[in-house]
Amino acid sequence: MNTKIILIGAPGAGKGTQAKLIQEKYNLPHISTGDIFRMNIREKTPVGLKALEYIEKGQLVPDEVTLEIVAQRLKEADCQKGYILDGFPRTLPQAEALSKIENIDIVVDITVDNAKLIDRLTGRRVCVKCGESYHISTKKDNICDKCGDTLIHRDDDREEVIKNRLEVFEASTRPIVNYYDKMGKVASVDGMQDIDGVFKSICEAIEK
Ligand code: AP5
Ligand code: MG
Repeated sequence: MNTKIILIGAPGAGKGTQAKLIQEKYNLPHISTGDIFRMNIREKTPVGLKALEYIEKGQLVPDEVTLEIVAQRLKEADCQKGYILDGFPRTLPQAEALSKIENIDIVVDITVDNAKLIDRLTGRRVCVKCGESYHISTKKDNICDKCGDTLIHRDDDREEVIKNRLEVFEASTRPIVNYYDKMGKVASVDGMQDIDGVFKSICEAIEK
């Protein structure tokens, strides 16, 4: 499928979970700015050191840093026929900069209420190696079922940081839904459903 997709949603809305399913079904690359920053943090690159200052407080990494890494990534061969952007754009300047270089087909807005977001994030455990995520309600050990590596609680999934991330989402990211809505590109999906239900709704929106 030749489609350029943006997934928008508050922290914990299920962007990463759904992006992996969309990637498998439609054979599109999954580009998560959060994952790219975390990889840079692990490797202690200059971008990683810069990003860490912001991520650990639940603030956004400055636009110029983020725009540079996304522009580079979108030039790669696997992105020429489409992709899934997860966690980008997150500010109006990022959305405007993206519009100058790319023509996005659909913006999926995954909506979930705050109480559920907090439960999902405080209970989330992620694999340090492959990034697969789990929830403590269903995962009783800390070994990844996919690759066998260790599961951790993300540093920014502590309750005090989550609160900041949710506020930042409302203030800086929510307005871009309106920006894309004016272009007629937004499909709203009820993210309170189970994972399969959300995925079914997203596929229907993509295939419309
Ligand atoms: P990022 O990594 O993008 O984090 P986020 O947006 O806060 O979102 P999350 O990854 O926490 O949640 P998700 O929506 O992917 O949910 P998931 O599928 O894991 O960004 C981290 C930081 O990097 C930012 O705070 C910022 O500092 C920086 N950054 C990144 N991009 C940036 C940008 N463009 N500009 C500036 N700064 C940027 O699901 C969560 C949990 O719920 C999991 O346990 C999962 O198993 C479970 N779950 C998912 N769906 C369901 C369901 N339907 N039912 C039940 N459980 C579910
Ligand atoms: Mg994610």
